[in-house]
Amino acid sequence: MGYLTTEQKSKPPITLSTLNKLKANGETFSCLTCYDASFAHAMQVADIDTILIGDSLGMVVQGQTSTLPVTVEDMVYHTKNVARANNHALIICDLPFMSYATLTDAIANSKAVMQAGANVVKIEGGAELAEIVSVLVKNGVPTCVHLGLTPQSVNVFGGYKVQGKTESQAEKLLKDCETVVNAGASILLLECVPSELAKKVTQTFNVPVIGIGAGVDCDGQVLVMHDMLGVYTRKPAKFVKDFLTAEENATKDITGAFKAYHKAVKERTFPTAEHSF
Ligand code: KIV
Repeated sequence: MGYLTTEQKSKPPITLSTLNKLKANGETFSCLTCYDASFAHAMQVADIDTILIGDSLGMVVQGQTSTLPVTVEDMVYHTKNVARANNHALIICDLPFMSYATLTDAIANSKAVMQAGANVVKIEGGAELAEIVSVLVKNGVPTCVHLGLTPQSVNVFGGYKVQGKTESQAEKLLKDCETVVNAGASILLLECVPSELAKKVTQTFNVPVIGIGAGVDCDGQVLVMHDMLGVYTRKPAKFVKDFLTAEENATKDITGAFKAYHKAVKERTFPTAEHSF
């Protein structure tokens, strides 16, 4: 996987201000999910800007059929493992299903993952999260709000489907973004929304917007690590690209895949229309 050079070891940590500056300059940033120390190390070698300890670990690590069984203890365990091995990327950690349904739980569970090494907590939903976002930021916890297809609500959606396709859905998503940004959200993450809508969100709000299946105009891009390494247990989504076997991965190894992904995101050559809605 490669070792860190002295230069890579001493690279300054990416912070929210770094992401805000990148957005202000029209530059993009890379994000990958990560769940353990070895891959976190390889991501530092490859200069990945932000890491998401996603509750997708329920599926790709634990073999569950959804993210719902994942616990706060699971998130704490994986966050500690990642944080030990990477001192460069900004670390975002998911609060799992029903762990922020009340303010008391949101505070206690954010404390647990922040003390494990997260820099930002990610929560799924819309305007209804405003109070939680505001209380967390007042207590020193920045939030990333995940909108669009929110996998913790798969049972409400009746499957993993593109969101924001109708005019009224698009208007609601914009309103939700406005409410959580006004409440103090530091990052928005859009999953499976039409590219034009994601572009509008990115241009409208002054916080970094990360996309997955949301087109090339977002400020940052995220993929699930296993997906971008071509490790699938089911048919990959349209927005997934296998960077392990991709032409631009000259070394055809894992660090090469991370480097090729980082470069493609920075140069906005990924995602293409083929990976977007
Ligand atoms: O849990 C996760 O990996 C995520 C990404 C799909 C954005 O939320």
